Amino acid sequence: MNRFDDLTVLVTGGTGGQGSSHVRAFHAEGANVVIGGIDAERGAALAGELGARAQFVRLDVTDEGSWSAAVQAVESTFGGLDVLVNNAGVQNPPAPIEGTERATWSRILDVNLTGTFLGIKVAAPALRRSAGGAIVNIGSTMGLGGTAHYAPYVAGKWAVRGLTRTAALELGRDHIRVNAIHPGVIATPFIQEPAAGATAAIADFYSPEPFAVPRLGEPADVTRLLLFLASSDASFITGSEYVIDGGLLLGPALQKEAAREGRRATRSRATRKPREKRPCEKDAVQEGGRVSTPDPTRGSHDQLGRRSAAPGSGAA
Ligand SMILES: NC(=O)c1ccc[n+]([C@@H]2O[C@H](COP(=O)([O-])OP(=O)(O)OC[C@H]3O[C@@H](n4cnc5c(N)ncnc54)[C@H](O)[C@@H]3O)[C@@H](O)[C@H]2O)c1
Repeated sequence: MNRFDDLTVLVTGGTGGQGSSHVRAFHAEGANVVIGGIDAERGAALAGELGARAQFVRLDVTDEGSWSAAVQAVESTFGGLDVLVNNAGVQNPPAPIEGTERATWSRILDVNLTGTFLGIKVAAPALRRSAGGAIVNIGSTMGLGGTAHYAPYVAGKWAVRGLTRTAALELGRDHIRVNAIHPGVIATPFIQEPAAGATAAIADFYSPEPFAVPRLGEPADVTRLLLFLASSDASFITGSEYVIDGGLLLGPALQKEAAREGRRATRSRATRKPREKRPCEKDAVQEGGRVSTPDPTRGSHDQLGRRSAAPGSGAA
């Protein structure tokens, strides 16, 4: 018995880096999978590869009519819908707010926010007809802070959080759970876009070095969390948000060298014989007890793991 036997799952942006990983995993766990997206060639190829229990439907998440047709197709092929994953997303070309065109703002919010809203709106009646189910919205760690030059993306992902909580309240009594996942930096085509203030791709600009788990995320990392939230194992979880970022939002971890130095100093303090404190040392402790620790904000990486120069150097 698989976790998703006899259930039908619709994944938007199902041909993308993370979307295709989600589709494959749901299918492997017994689900009927519907790959919703705008890339018909890739969608048909993925459905063909998976064979039985897989279908591609053309779905532009910004278009309500497209949503209605897709959900109708899902119900007529598989007899119902049980899980919706609002995964489709786009990143804005990096620019400060003052240099952001209104059209760019609207396009990014249309896909990332309105697309999620329409998905909930159109899929909810179908989920209700299936006597309940789960919706998982894919947000971003950028929806938990600010990121210069990414206002449309940041604002849209912040708003997805409010939408998730509101939908969870509205749909809970119909046995429909709604949660959100906030990935950090995941190795997909998404991070091949040029980074803000640089010609290099985001993938080169971000470095996992300062993360507590020093690597980029893989789509499969997100998929495992998604499958848990979509499954009955998570039946008491709704309106919740899950960050999956290898510790990116924690701030920079100690670099290996600094961590090694710290351990060496602790060991030598532990083996050293205690000695009398000189009066001036005591005064220093009373005046503030400042200890010398590496300043994580100086040089190399900022909170999001992006390479930067020391503050004040004027580098982006
Ligand atoms: N990769 C990362 O580092 C990262 C980090 C945080 C959040 N995310 C989010 O994860 C989700 C998946 O992104 P990914 O990393 O797989 O990127 P990706 O670019 O590989 O996939 C995005 C998918 O969305 C589809 N899409 C775009 N516009 C659409 C539309 N109007 N209708 C339907 N589909 C559309 C694309 O065709 C593509 O299949 C997105 O919501 C993204 O914002 C990504």
